[in-house]
Amino acid sequence: MEYIEEADYDSLIIPYQDAMANLMTRLESLNNDYRRKYKNYPIHHMQERIKKKESIEEKLRRKGCRVSAEEARENLTDIAGIRIICYFEEDIYHVLERIKRQTDILILQEKDYIRQEKENGYRSLHIIVGIPVYHIDGMDYYPVEIQMRTMAMDLWASMEHRICYKNEEKIGKDSPKKEAFKEFAKELYQMEQKLSEMK
Ligand code: GTP
Ligand code: MG
Repeated sequence: MEYIEEADYDSLIIPYQDAMANLMTRLESLNNDYRRKYKNYPIHHMQERIKKKESIEEKLRRKGCRVSAEEARENLTDIAGIRIICYFEEDIYHVLERIKRQTDILILQEKDYIRQEKENGYRSLHIIVGIPVYHIDGMDYYPVEIQMRTMAMDLWASMEHRICYKNEEKIGKDSPKKEAFKEFAKELYQMEQKLSEMK
């Protein structure tokens, strides 16, 4: 089986780490500005992660690519990832709008699983952005995957990820757990709707 050398992995992730740190700072500034100007701010908290060497290798194999740092750079857009957890659904669209206004950020892909919920009940808004990273001989854009969700969506997705996601061999195709998760989704989003009516 092919692997990525540790040293190649270490140098692969450096600019992704820089891109992710840069974006985290911008998002924190944005939330601070909301805090300063309005009573409420949209972002409850954020998480960041760099994809582990083993996950990169696994995803390259799954996509039928060769397993190398070069192939990872060319084919993966989720080496760096930030999750933004908001209070209310509408906060997500506010933050999205503000990200789009930053003229040096590229929007490479947008998937709205909030308005178009997935069949299993998953909801979140995903964008892939290109963040400029300057180095000695110039600049390159590096992709960062942003997942935006409310706290209810995050509760659902975190538990579903643990119990069902990509786990079909283990839990079975028609597992009652899947039906239960569809039901949980309905209940959670009803609760969220009631909360937003109390604003
Ligand atoms: P991956 O191969 O998983 O990266 O999916 P993709 O390349 O088709 O992209 P997509 O935007 O659909 O999903 C990206 C990420 O969103 C996943 O890696 C998960 O973290 C999350 N995600 C997508 N669908 C689900 C889902 O049904 N359940 C959960 N828990 N997470 C999901
Ligand atoms: Mg992924």
